Amino acid sequence: MAQEVAVRVKILKGTRRKRAVDDAGSGENATRPYRQLALIYDELVGDSAFDCWRENFDRLVARYSIEYEAAADIACGTGHAVAYLISRCDRVYGVDISPEMLQVASFRVRAQGSTFIEQSFTDFELPEKVDLLTCNFDSLNYLLSAEDVAEALRRFADSLKPGGYCIFDMNTTRELELEWGTSVLVHRVNNGFAVWESEWDPQLRINSLRMTNFILREDGLYERSEEMHRERSYDLDFLIDGLRDAGFSHVEAYDAKGLAVVNEDTRRVHFLARR
Ligand SMILES: C[S@@+](CC[C@H](N)C(=O)[O-])C[C@H]1O[C@@H](n2cnc3c(N)ncnc32)[C@H](O)[C@@H]1O
Repeated sequence: MAQEVAVRVKILKGTRRKRAVDDAGSGENATRPYRQLALIYDELVGDSAFDCWRENFDRLVARYSIEYEAAADIACGTGHAVAYLISRCDRVYGVDISPEMLQVASFRVRAQGSTFIEQSFTDFELPEKVDLLTCNFDSLNYLLSAEDVAEALRRFADSLKPGGYCIFDMNTTRELELEWGTSVLVHRVNNGFAVWESEWDPQLRINSLRMTNFILREDGLYERSEEMHRERSYDLDFLIDGLRDAGFSHVEAYDAKGLAVVNEDTRRVHFLARR
């Protein structure tokens, strides 16, 4: 069985992924995001995020009559969307920068035709051009410079066949400033708990969320780890212009809540762009 899985699900290591320090963890890497969080991500956010995403995704696919044989989910996390897409098409590539999230994803998705690639938004290269590209649950907000966002959008466009669709969502300033805000939250999970301290910087438009996770080990002790998650918000016009500059011919932006018109209360924007 294990051998069969190894044949079906390949994890391709990116050739140009940059890591400042090794995985032993020092400096920035000591608080690298999506390490221990991978163990509790689905319970805390992944499962419910996927349900919301699927509803909007299905509506957009029906509205635009999107057909696809090959697809990619960039920043695929624990693989919910890859699992969903591979049940509807022949080949799906799941790309993510976190080896820990990819490990969870490769346990979840064992279907033939799925491939996981450890690469970043700004340097990923797919083995083939795809008909559909998704990037879900505010993953692009993790890019902290406008140049990197523009580069990622160019890569999205370059990875698609002409006529292919890109669907992704991003948090707005309203979400990062007022909902995440500056606060402390304690989350209970099955095998431990997590303390999340967030701080909004209005100048940089970055919310810095320090996660201190305590996960119960087999020996009864709690393992403590810290991760720093930073998300930045971008103007809607900048993102729409970036999509057009990247080569998308048709661009739409919706309030993720009900796929309505974007307004000042919008917390998450769902983008649809056609190459
Ligand atoms: C909020 S999670 C979303 C995961 C998944 N898309 C979902 O809907 O549950 C953000 C994901 O973005 C990934 N990520 C963050 N920065 C990245 C980068 N520069 N390149 C690729 N993936 C990145 C993280 O590893 C993590 O899996």
